[in-house]
Amino acid sequence: MEWERILLTYKQAADELKAKFDNIALQFKKLENTSPIFIVEARVKTIPSILAKARRKKIPMEEIEAEMWDIAGLRIICRFVDDIKTVVDIVKAREDMEIVEDRDYVTHMKPSGYRGYHLLVRYPVYTAHGRREVLCEIQVRTLAMNMWAVTEHSLRYKYKGMIPEEVSRRLTRTADAAFMLDTDTNIIKDDILEAEKSNKSRERIILDITNSIEALDSVAKVNEVAELYHKFVDVMDANDYTSLEGFYNEIRLITQAYNIR
Ligand code: GTP
Ligand code: MG
Repeated sequence: MEWERILLTYKQAADELKAKFDNIALQFKKLENTSPIFIVEARVKTIPSILAKARRKKIPMEEIEAEMWDIAGLRIICRFVDDIKTVVDIVKAREDMEIVEDRDYVTHMKPSGYRGYHLLVRYPVYTAHGRREVLCEIQVRTLAMNMWAVTEHSLRYKYKGMIPEEVSRRLTRTADAAFMLDTDTNIIKDDILEAEKSNKSRERIILDITNSIEALDSVAKVNEVAELYHKFVDVMDANDYTSLEGFYNEIRLITQAYNIR
C-alpha cells in the first residue's frame, strides 16, 4: 500500500470537511447569534493505530480502505441534545457527501454507556492524482457526551479493557450524570439562548446598525440618513459600549417609526 498517498487523501477529506462545518458554525453564529455546531474536530488515524485496529478486527491489508470506516474522523460537538438532530439533518441534506450508514447511539445508548450519533459518509476529494472517494466517520455528540467518551476511552486504554470494578462503577455514574446534564440543559435551552441573545455582542450591534441605516436609506430623507452616518462614525470613534448601545436603540426607534424591520 502507498501509505503516504492514501493518508494524505484522508487528510484532505478531513481538512475539507472541517473547513465546511466550521464555516456553517460561523454563519449560524454571525447570523443567528447561536450555532448548533459548537466545535468541529478532525483527525486522521495514524499508521500504528490503523495496523492495530486491522489486526484486532481481522481486516486484511487490501480491505483496510473499504472496511475501516474511521481512518478519517470528524467530531461535531454540540451544546444541546436537540442540536444533534439539527446537525444530522444538515449533513443528510448535503449533496457533496453520501450517507452510507447512520447509527443513533443517542436514543440507543451502547451498553458501555456511550452516546453519540454516527454518520458514515462517502466523500469525494480531488487530489493531485485525480478524484478519490473516501469514507469518513462523523460523530455528533454533546459536550457532556464527549466528556464521557473521552474519559472512558482513556481509562479503557490505560487498563487495556480491564477496568477495575470500582472505576467501572464510577464510570457508570458519570454516564448517568452526563445524561442528566444533557437532559436538564436541553430543557432550559430556550432560557439560556434568550439570556445570551439579550447580551448582544458589539460586533452584532454594529452589523445591525449598518443594516438598519442601509434600510433607512431608501425610505428616510437624505439628510436624515447622512446625519445618522455622521453620528455612527462619532459613536465608533468614542469606542464605548454604552454610547454604541444608546445609538443602537435610537436607530431601532427610527426604523420602527418607518415601519421597517
Ligand atoms: P470501533 O468501535 O471503532 O471499533 O467500530 P464499530 O464498528 O464498533 O463502530 P461504533 O459505531 O460502535 O464505534 C465507532 C467509534 O465510536 C469508535 O471508534 C469510538 O470513537 C466511538 N465509540 C463507540 N463506542 C464507544 C465506547 O463505548 N466508548 C468510547 N469512548 N467511544 C466509543
Ligand atoms: Mg465499537
